[in-house]
Amino acid sequence: MKKFALLIILYLFNLFYDCQSQNIKQPRLEILPNQPVQRRAINRPLVLTCSPNVEQKDLITDLKWKDSSNQTINPKQYGSQPIIYTETLNINQLMLVITSLTEALAGYYYCSASYANSEYIEEKVKIETYVAITYKDANIYQTTNLNTDYVIRCIVTANPPPSVDWLRNGDQIKSSEKFIIKHDGLLVKNVQESDDGIYTCRAAVIQTGELMERNIRLEVQIQPTIEILNDVYEAIEGEEFSAKCVASGKPPPLVQWIKDQRDMSLADRFSVVPHNGQLSITRVEAEHDRGIYKCLAKNPAGIAEKETRLNVVMKPKIFELKNITVPINNETMLICKSKGWPIPFVTFRKWGSKEELRLGHQENDDRIILEQTVDNEMGESTGILVISSVIRADDGLYQCVARNKGGTAFEVGHITVEYPPNFDHMKDLPPVFSWEERVANLSCMAMALPNATIEWRWNERLIREMQDKFLQIVEDGPRSDLIVRPVERRYYSAYKCIAVNKIGRAEHIMELREAHLPSAVAQAKPIEVTATTITFDIIGPPFEIGMPIKAYTAQYKEERNPDWLYAFNRTWSTDTPYVIEGLRPQTMYTFRFAARNDVGLGQWSAIKVQATPSRSTPETPKILNQFAQEVEDGELPIITSLFADRFELIWNRPPDNGEPIDFYAIKYCPGNKINNNWNEIGRLCNEQSYIAYTFSNFVLKRLMPDTYYKIELRAHNAIGFSSPAYAYLKTARGAELKGDIERIEEEHFHLSSISIVLIAILAIILILLLIDLTFCITKDLGIFALIFSRKSHTTNQRRFERQNEKRELITVFGQQRQRQQQHSNDAIGKNSSV
Ligand SMILES: *[C@@H]1O[C@H](CO)[C@@H](O)[C@H](O)[C@H]1NC(C)=O
Ligand SMILES: *[C@@H]1O[C@H](CO)[C@@H](O)[C@H](O)[C@H]1NC(C)=O
Ligand SMILES: *[C@@H]1O[C@H](CO)[C@@H](O)[C@H](O)[C@H]1NC(C)=O
Ligand SMILES: *[C@@H]1O[C@H](CO)[C@@H](O)[C@H](O)[C@H]1NC(C)=O
Ligand SMILES: *[C@@H]1O[C@H](CO)[C@@H](O)[C@H](O)[C@H]1NC(C)=O
Ligand SMILES: *[C@@H]1O[C@H](CO)[C@@H](O)[C@H](O)[C@H]1NC(C)=O
Repeated sequence: MKKFALLIILYLFNLFYDCQSQNIKQPRLEILPNQPVQRRAINRPLVLTCSPNVEQKDLITDLKWKDSSNQTINPKQYGSQPIIYTETLNINQLMLVITSLTEALAGYYYCSASYANSEYIEEKVKIETYVAITYKDANIYQTTNLNTDYVIRCIVTANPPPSVDWLRNGDQIKSSEKFIIKHDGLLVKNVQESDDGIYTCRAAVIQTGELMERNIRLEVQIQPTIEILNDVYEAIEGEEFSAKCVASGKPPPLVQWIKDQRDMSLADRFSVVPHNGQLSITRVEAEHDRGIYKCLAKNPAGIAEKETRLNVVMKPKIFELKNITVPINNETMLICKSKGWPIPFVTFRKWGSKEELRLGHQENDDRIILEQTVDNEMGESTGILVISSVIRADDGLYQCVARNKGGTAFEVGHITVEYPPNFDHMKDLPPVFSWEERVANLSCMAMALPNATIEWRWNERLIREMQDKFLQIVEDGPRSDLIVRPVERRYYSAYKCIAVNKIGRAEHIMELREAHLPSAVAQAKPIEVTATTITFDIIGPPFEIGMPIKAYTAQYKEERNPDWLYAFNRTWSTDTPYVIEGLRPQTMYTFRFAARNDVGLGQWSAIKVQATPSRSTPETPKILNQFAQEVEDGELPIITSLFADRFELIWNRPPDNGEPIDFYAIKYCPGNKINNNWNEIGRLCNEQSYIAYTFSNFVLKRLMPDTYYKIELRAHNAIGFSSPAYAYLKTARGAELKGDIERIEEEHFHLSSISIVLIAILAIILILLLIDLTFCITKDLGIFALIFSRKSHTTNQRRFERQNEKRELITVFGQQRQRQQQHSNDAIGKNSSV
């Protein structure tokens, strides 16, 4: 045993020695990392470093790396990028660099060198490759369409081959109806929106213990569909337009609008919002913008498209309307051309009339027809107003109206109706008068269109050619004046005025007549005679139309005066009251009358002798205020006042009958008017005298509102009062509706009630004094008792005294009262004097 143990120790020692001696003796190369066989993942870089393990490193030469086919691997050349190359690290250290390991590069690599120029040394290493888990076709973002089967692709490579499974939300997916795990991925059957989400593709290599996970986002996409888009849109020319093509899909599709293969988002005036599908046009142009548009909705899942038509409403425009002139009784047409879309309806309206013409014959006038022609190609329509036989009333302005749903256009044209001359407006004119060679103006005017020219004939001869210096023509149309100086009788004659235009002619006879002074006044009758005035009724002489009586003159004198030389005169224009004033009473007068026209004053005639009566009271004045209503016989006129509290009475000065009026007496009484019976409140009457020489008006004041008054007005002169004039007055309603007569009576009562109150107060004081007195006498109490108590001694004496005192008291009280009264009277006096 000992021997065996010794042997082992010897062996171990020997080993150690061997190793020591080998180390020293044998030069070696060393490769780091130093496993002789190395497994490396492909596609990774790799570095192997070879360094000599010798005592004298400087004896090493020719250090190099060789591959398995004994080819020396070269160092990297400047600028080149080899997969495999060597690189010297330090002196005697050489690196082998593989930038990316491939399976082809697997094998032995040798590092060799010469030692001391004689000994060849070599070391080798074996590189084995394996493939790490690599996701080859496994995009982390994958999309699929709805309702399809989709394989979530996840191809994993590794060597040794990996096993692959799938997770969703951390849980393993088991193969089922819905999910089938396949070699190239996970098959999802009939994809729904709920399948959207994150899937984990997990790979594991049992041999290497490698495990890798990859999260793949699956997006379920939905193909776009166009949800809202009309078949037809309508835009109005010149205005804004917008339409929306609403599309759905996932992800939300973007919308494009296409017209004639053009993307409208690039066109002028157009704008497109891709996110919501809105197409807008800032100012629609009919020609360019109408047509077929295509809406394209796109997302990664697909494209949807739909067509729509855009019609453009063109507001109507009237581009032709010519004024026309037409001879009377002829046919005419007023033509109005318009454009627009939809093609407008064209009609007319006579200026000033609200009604538009309707197609065809007009109901109220079948001379007038409205026709319409439509040119669909040009988008034009023409309205034609046809009048089969024009009359003068057709002349005027016409409004052409072109209308479609885009609006209405108006244009005004006119029809001028030509007509022959006429003298209708001169038919009833009186003749022209002249006298004493006065120049006469025969003015002749013809109505005509076009204007007429006028010529004059006298006894069928053209005056223009006569060269008569007493006949002069001023102007020749449409008005012409024939100026005649009738130096001879023959000029008083008829002249013919002839008007001509292109439509026709007309004649008018104008007469020049000699005028004379008016003939005698037929009659002048006194109809009202007072002491100082006479009113006449005059029947004038006959006169010619065109030479009216302009005035009448009367001359008058006292009859005893034989001479007319100093007679008075009075002239009236016609149709005024013919009154002569300022006559003397009780006097006989002679009157004569004459009429006056433009020629002069006619002869005196209608001589009348008339006496004035003697002086008397004045005539009845006449109330001139406006009456509220017609006055029936026997009833008094009612005048309403604009005011509630006053009224201005106006009357005319009556003839004074020889003595001047010195005043008027005005009386006005309030009262009731019930069933035409006047109930007067006599005590409220008011009577006033009014001295009036010049004025004949008077303001009644302090009237009650809403009250009837009866007014009596009389004039007075030295002889006496005239008979009265009466009228009722009704005052306006006041602010407070007082005015009832009862109310007035109440007021009277109210005034007297003040004194009643005073009396009552006095009575109360008296009663109080009496009570006090009785208390004093019976019970010896009260104010009096206090006063007198000091004086009383015995009851008898007291009684006696009391009786006396009573008397005294009464007198004292009487005196006191007197004094009091006097005092208060004084106070009143003072107050009133103040
Ligand atoms: C490479 O060369 C060495 C000696 O230089 C030799 O021993 C070896 O057999 C050769 N290998 C091949 C494959 O030729
Ligand atoms: C107008 O009408 C008249 C008859 O009615 C005819 O003689 C004339 O020629 C017409 N004029 C025109 C311009 O049509
Ligand atoms: C037609 O007459 C109207 C009114 O007199 C005028 O305003 C308009 O300019 C005229 N039109 C033409 C085309 O002459
Ligand atoms: C004639 O009378 C017309 C109408 O009254 C007037 O307009 C015209 O001026 C007169 N002519 C002369 C020359 O006085
Ligand atoms: C026609 O007469 C009127 C009135 O005298 C005048 O104002 C008008 O200018 C005339 N017309 C023509 C076309 O001469
Ligand atoms: C009327 O009287 C006035 C003045 O008294 C006198 O001038 C005038 O000539 C008289 N007229 C007549 C027509 O007598």
